Amino acid sequence: MADSKKKFIVLLLTALLTMGLFSCASDGPASAESKKPAANITAASTVSTTSTYQAKGVWYSFNGLKFAMKVPADLKIKAVSKYKPQFTGHNDRIKVSLRRWNQVSYPNLKSLAALVKKHTGRKIRQVRQGGLRMVKVQGLKTKIKYYILMPNGDDYILTISPNKDKHPKLKFKDIKEEAKAIEVSLRMPKKIPSGAKRIRLARTKFPKVNYLVLVNSSHKIPNKWMKKISVVKTVNSLGKKVTAERKTYKAYLRLQRDLEKNDEVFIDLDFGIRTVKEQQKLIDDYTKRYGAAYANRIAARPGYSEHHTGLALDVYLIIDGKEVYLNEEMKKYPKVWKKIHAKLAKHGFILRYPKNSAYPYEPWHIRYVGKKTAKKIMAEPGLTLEQYLARS
Ligand code: DAL
Ligand code: ZN
Repeated sequence: MADSKKKFIVLLLTALLTMGLFSCASDGPASAESKKPAANITAASTVSTTSTYQAKGVWYSFNGLKFAMKVPADLKIKAVSKYKPQFTGHNDRIKVSLRRWNQVSYPNLKSLAALVKKHTGRKIRQVRQGGLRMVKVQGLKTKIKYYILMPNGDDYILTISPNKDKHPKLKFKDIKEEAKAIEVSLRMPKKIPSGAKRIRLARTKFPKVNYLVLVNSSHKIPNKWMKKISVVKTVNSLGKKVTAERKTYKAYLRLQRDLEKNDEVFIDLDFGIRTVKEQQKLIDDYTKRYGAAYANRIAARPGYSEHHTGLALDVYLIIDGKEVYLNEEMKKYPKVWKKIHAKLAKHGFILRYPKNSAYPYEPWHIRYVGKKTAKKIMAEPGLTLEQYLARS
């Protein structure tokens, strides 16, 4: 008897609590500055039943991916670009934006988390929600930021912030509960609730890149080259930002993983893209360190460096957990380079400056040309890109 009485009280309390929440949810729009979390979120169709806050769902489909997002029903959504899969949305109190981060195609959540930590310098938390892998940046006073890793390797940032255009005094803490109520899930519900919007966002269009472009001391970087490529940014183990052409970078990640897994060789990126200005700076640095003669021999004239293309990468070694990045130091590890060079063609790279090429031997400078060409060039040790192109 006593037990069932207890059970009854618990049930009653639960029911009352639930009713309280639902009446709060269906109160209709409260004053704009109200802190009641569910005020402008309706209890209509739901994507997930796990959340206290009920909201209409919005279904997005882009790049062949479908995912569901539970947002306040009154959120006005705008797909911002015809070509980029991104959108912004707002209601009276909050602003939501989902856009491609365009950083990396990171292989796993752990490495994405490490990158985000480096990038933001803040505490982060890894979240798995509805099959979605995300990294949440903590301690932001103005917004919630989630870095989302899609199964196709694309990464996105979801930002939720107070709508200061409407209410300049609105603080993040005032909208915290509404921000939390927004959910993203890669698991599409079996039945799409009526009233939910369906939006198809554009596929990302990547430009066609000439991966066989020749840039050397007599071939300048083609005009408007940067406009013709898509770039990704990353941060290396030394905290330095590195930018490279998208496909080149993806291929590099595969090479890096392959070396780590199968050869216990660890590498990172010292340089990807160098602008004309950065090339001049490099020459100046080299001049200080090694003298003008060496600097002019090892570094291309600004405008004539393959690094302007985004297809050339300089890697450095991590030996026993320590970064080895100075040219003269790196040259002390021929056996390690041999292992690296043996894997280049498989991932679409060539060793661009082998011994006896136009520049002194650079074991660290690799160039993406695509697997087919790389295999042909690397099959003939010492063959340069110039010689290969002259043949065909
Ligand atoms: N070190 C290579 C040649 C460059 O500066 O592009
Ligand atoms: Zn280089």
